[in-house]
Amino acid sequence: MKGIILAGGSGSRLYPLTKIYSKQLTIIYDKPLIYYPLSVLMLGGIKEILIISNEETIPHYKRLFGNGNELGLNIEYALQAAPNGIAEAFILGENFIGKDSVTLILGDNIFYGYLDFLYKALENSNNGATIFGYQVNDPERYGIVEFNEKGEVLSIEEKPKKPRSNFAVPGLYVYDNKVIEISKNLKPSPRGELEITDVNNAYLALRELRVEKIGRGVAWLDTGTPEALLQASNFFGVIEERQGLKIACIEEIAYKMKFIDKAQFQRVIDGIPKSMYRLYLEKIHESE
Ligand code: TTP
Repeated sequence: MKGIILAGGSGSRLYPLTKIYSKQLTIIYDKPLIYYPLSVLMLGGIKEILIISNEETIPHYKRLFGNGNELGLNIEYALQAAPNGIAEAFILGENFIGKDSVTLILGDNIFYGYLDFLYKALENSNNGATIFGYQVNDPERYGIVEFNEKGEVLSIEEKPKKPRSNFAVPGLYVYDNKVIEISKNLKPSPRGELEITDVNNAYLALRELRVEKIGRGVAWLDTGTPEALLQASNFFGVIEERQGLKIACIEEIAYKMKFIDKAQFQRVIDGIPKSMYRLYLEKIHESE
């Protein structure tokens, strides 16, 4: 299984910040936004990861993560010259994906809670597509799934004016290798993008699309607007302070997932300046 984080885009809703700076590098409580989607892939056991972004931002990601080896990962980078749509990730990532299945997560999507929905999808990943359905209050803003009485998927509609359900499709998708061919055959939509909804509808037409509902015990936050950023920071601040545990702390996850051993973990800590973040990792290192 390969993982892709799509972390380019224009971020126009976060102007003026995004005039100079990428949305996925903004801070959510105590760490850059991209740590949250990266941690979801890592918790899914995915170690080979491609980060796709624009020319200005790739050097920043390289400074953050390098080749990922320090955390037991293998991180590569690919350029998306313009925000031509989410499905372009599979064309840009063709060589990286090779003959494998692939999980795509959008760089501004955060999932918090028990990730059983993802583990289940990953078990099935050689066979069709799994996407997810999450109940939201504002379905007009998302790709929306229509179900029949038996719970089977009838359609997926991008940003519908009259939504047929409240189940939005979050930015996390698990595909078999066919996704490359499907994406290559897409035509740009009226807004000029290769739409992920068209990929999902292609799998639906093949009867190979599963939509797993994510229960209300899981938080899915997307962080495209100033309000959403503030809400997410407050949300994670409250939980981290309450428990004394960090969320989406990639160094801790690499260690707990056994991507690195205790000595490697110590070397990672040695490279971090004196800070609350380092102190936290030292505590984890001592306690195990
Ligand atoms: P969006 O939130 O749809 O778009 P955006 O980030 O450009 O923001 P805005 O709508 O305010 O202009 O993108 C979702 C995620 O996918 C985000 O992490 C950016 C990423 N993305 C790309 O990297 N390339 C693309 O072509 C598109 C459409 C999105």
